[in-house]
This record gives sequence, C-alpha cells and structure tokens, in this order.
Amino acid sequence: MTLKSILRLTLNGRAREDLVPDNMLLLDYLRETANHTGTKQGCDGGECGACTVLVDGRPRLACSTLAHQVAGKAVETVEGLAPKGRLTALQQAFHEKLGTQCGFCTPGMIMASEALLRKKPKPSRDEIKTALAGNICRCTGYVKIIEAVESAASACSGQEAAE
Ligand code: FES
Ligand code: FES
Repeated sequence: MTLKSILRLTLNGRAREDLVPDNMLLLDYLRETANHTGTKQGCDGGECGACTVLVDGRPRLACSTLAHQVAGKAVETVEGLAPKGRLTALQQAFHEKLGTQCGFCTPGMIMASEALLRKKPKPSRDEIKTALAGNICRCTGYVKIIEAVESAASACSGQEAAE
C-alpha cells in the first residue's frame, strides 16, 4: 500500500494542499493532481529538460524530484507566467523569433530562460547557452531559441530604461 500525506506548497502564487502519495513525482503531481499540464514529460530520466519548473526561483527537473521534496516551497510552472493570458516578453519573444516549433520543449526552455533572466537580466550568448544546456530541442537547432532569449533580454532592459 502506498502511503499518502498532505503536501502544502505554493503553486504559481497560490497556496495549496493535497493528499499526495509519498512516492509521487513532482511532475505527476503537477500534471495529474494540480492539472498543470504545461510542464512536459519527455525522457522521464533527467536528460531532456522538458519538465523544468522553478522551485523557489531556481530551475529544477520535476521528473527527478518527489512532490514532497517541495513541501513549503514556491513552485512555478509555465502557466504561472501568464495568469491572465497575456504573454510575458520572454514568451512573446519565443513566438516572434520562432523559438518554438512543435512546442514540446518550450515550457522547459521558457522556465530555464526565466530563471536566467531573473538572475541575469542581460546575459551573454554563452550564459544563455549554459543556462539551456540541459534542455533538448529536436526541432529548432537552438539558434532561434537563443535569439528569443536575447530578444527578451533587450526588450526587458528597454522597458526598464523607459520606466
Ligand atoms: S522529462 Fe524531466 S528531464 Fe526529461
Ligand atoms: S520545438 Fe520541438 S522539441 Fe523544441
């Protein structure tokens, strides 16, 4: 019999508590319990980055994390970036710069990029490549993704300058 216990956390800014099996992965909790299917299941083995979410602002692989390991923490998924349906500059840049094709890797790419831009609003190209080194894309060849992150960084710094 699988033991269950209460998990309390903040998901995209909202406090939740759920009765969760002790051995449930964060990825399954997000997709099946919380119904946040933006986070993708790719390799399921810590190798593709499709399941990247933010835990207390830092990127983490939801397929390699037990749900109970994030108890009391703030978890962010791609759904949390545009709560009212208005895309962030980063999401818009992925759209405009063709950084997404089939879209399967995109939530993970976006969350890994989001973590980078919060820490380093104007990253170099090498810093972007390093931040996204754990995220695999089978469609774009990566150039458009890197250009999208660069474009978002310059759009955000332009916004800051105007404020
Ligand atoms: S599904 Fe988590 S790294 Fe691939
Ligand atoms: S856009 Fe298809 S895997 Fe990246």
